Amino acid sequence: MAAGPVFAIVLLLLYVAYLKKKEHNRNKIPPGARPLPGPKGLPLLGRIHDVPAEKTWLKFYEWAKEYGPIYQMEIFGSVHVWISSEAVAHDLLSRRAVIYSDRPMIPNLPNNRTGGEYLALHGRNDTWKRQRKLAQHLMAQSANASLHNYPSKERDRFLYLLYQDASQYREYIEQFTARTVSRLSWGSPHPANLLRETTFGLLETISPSGALPNIISWLMHVPYCLSPWKQREHARHEVEAGLFKSSVRYVRDAVGAGTADPSFVRTFVDTLSKPGDAAKWGAEAEATYVVGQMAIAGALTIGSPIQSFLLAMLHFPEWQHKLQLEIDDVCPGRCPEWDDREKMPLLRAVVKEVIRWRPPVPTGIPHAVEKDDVYNGYFIPAGATIHALEWGITRDETTYPDAETFNPARWLEPKYPTYKEPLSMYPNLAGFSQFGFGRRTCQGVPIVEMDLFLAMGGMAWAFRIQKKRNADGTEVPVHWNDFTPLLIAKPSPFEFDLVPRHGDATAHALRGMWETGKGEDDEELERAAERDRRSAEDRHREVVVRAAVAAAALVARKEKESAVAVEDDDACSVGGSDTSGGSLLMAPGVTPKTASSLSSTSSVSDFPQLRAEADVWS
Ligand code: HEM
Repeated sequence: MAAGPVFAIVLLLLYVAYLKKKEHNRNKIPPGARPLPGPKGLPLLGRIHDVPAEKTWLKFYEWAKEYGPIYQMEIFGSVHVWISSEAVAHDLLSRRAVIYSDRPMIPNLPNNRTGGEYLALHGRNDTWKRQRKLAQHLMAQSANASLHNYPSKERDRFLYLLYQDASQYREYIEQFTARTVSRLSWGSPHPANLLRETTFGLLETISPSGALPNIISWLMHVPYCLSPWKQREHARHEVEAGLFKSSVRYVRDAVGAGTADPSFVRTFVDTLSKPGDAAKWGAEAEATYVVGQMAIAGALTIGSPIQSFLLAMLHFPEWQHKLQLEIDDVCPGRCPEWDDREKMPLLRAVVKEVIRWRPPVPTGIPHAVEKDDVYNGYFIPAGATIHALEWGITRDETTYPDAETFNPARWLEPKYPTYKEPLSMYPNLAGFSQFGFGRRTCQGVPIVEMDLFLAMGGMAWAFRIQKKRNADGTEVPVHWNDFTPLLIAKPSPFEFDLVPRHGDATAHALRGMWETGKGEDDEELERAAERDRRSAEDRHREVVVRAAVAAAALVARKEKESAVAVEDDDACSVGGSDTSGGSLLMAPGVTPKTASSLSSTSSVSDFPQLRAEADVWS
């Protein structure tokens, strides 16, 4: 049969199935309830044609303003419910957590609910419960030990690198977050680079606007040999598995040798892996992935608010100034440390306000509802995907007046609805809507809190963060809200200048911080750079010697030529000069001894060609 009629039949079947499902959903609505409001979709397609490829959250928020704080839409026959009110999100995702704590299936990672590898994406079942308990325990142990000072050490390294080259800010921020979480997970920064690579691949795999099957879900049925998405994910997954397993082996070996630094894996090996523990905490193979999940989450997310902080400081310099006053007052002549936090409510408010102003996960991580439900008279069908639209929640004017303005005062002054005392403790990130709801809330808040406090406080302490200027004195524009489209959104690149606030004193302090913050890998790099420098010097010296030898040969040849010319003039004798250009050391009159003595007296610059060669070598 030709392709055309087959396609038409498939479409017809899909359409019939769609009508049946719609009819079924309508029949399920209990008496007195009604469907949620929302934009009407096309048959089969739903409203997919209206969802932009970028900054989807703005479109979902636009619909929220039209249809209210909870509405529904369909995409390819699946029901999506969007919540833009913190109160509604709590009503459903927290108070009714017993049926709202599942996760939807991700078409491009179809075993996400059952595979046991990514707890943040896992279905609500016993594996997820066990893994969540383990993650909670490991996190609490490390948080009690102030995360072993890893964030502070990495922050010191980060600031120095930023000082060296601010244009590389995205790279250095990602290094900071990935290295910190690598140390926490496995006690070493070594896995950080590979972690970043595989993690950004995973972000594409799972993001609704990443791999195509997440948009056109039937593509998940394309066989492996024809699916570039499946092949790419398979390759990425192999690398990730190798990374996680080898990192755990590294810790095990170090524990055996008595040299292991503190880490999640060390805590597991030391205290949770005795015979009989597996039923409660999972076996080591499972713990490998629980720790891997924590590392993934840490490497992916925290860079976003650090970049947004720079954006905020450029657009709202008055808050940068106030923050620097607090820093100079509490920490005269030094960088803020975690122990200063009680005395630094403004810095904590800046951290929280950055996250509110530019939510790192603007569409939230979706939940799935397991049973039919009725909320305020509206019907929500089992299987619907429930999105807490974090962008919308942070734009709720009743809670956040003048929401588009970056205003840390909303956490510090009693006239704002979000104010809370005592200021020695509040504001903080515990329970903040941007970390989710109910039984699925984020498990990394202590890391986020410390990383952001130290990184933002450190940057404001060290630098004046300011807009770049063109040659004519005008400012180089900085975007307001241009963010990347994946699940975790980051500001698109922008330009700025970092000026050390106290000139040489800052530079000196940062150099000292580098010395304490740098890792073994940096030391290896420094040693390699030193080796390179020395061998470049050696090569340069060699060229100088060769140049001197050449100079001596030239002088000798010239002397010989003039002697021959004199003889020719005098006696018309036969013979000729050596013009063969052979070994310079064999040049007449040049011995190794004269060459070496000439090398110390002749200058290569006398010989432009050799000078050029020397430059190339050096
Ligand atoms: C700025 C940084 C971060 C933000 C904004 C953030 C936000 C979120 C959000 C919105 C969720 C989903 C909550 C829900 O479904 O209701 C989540 C889940 C999660 N987060 Fe984070 N997160 C951040 C950093 C981290 C870090 C550093 C870690 C670990 C080291 C982490 C570990 C997790 C885990 C394990 C889950 C899954 C919980 C579950 O499904 O049971 N997160 N996070």
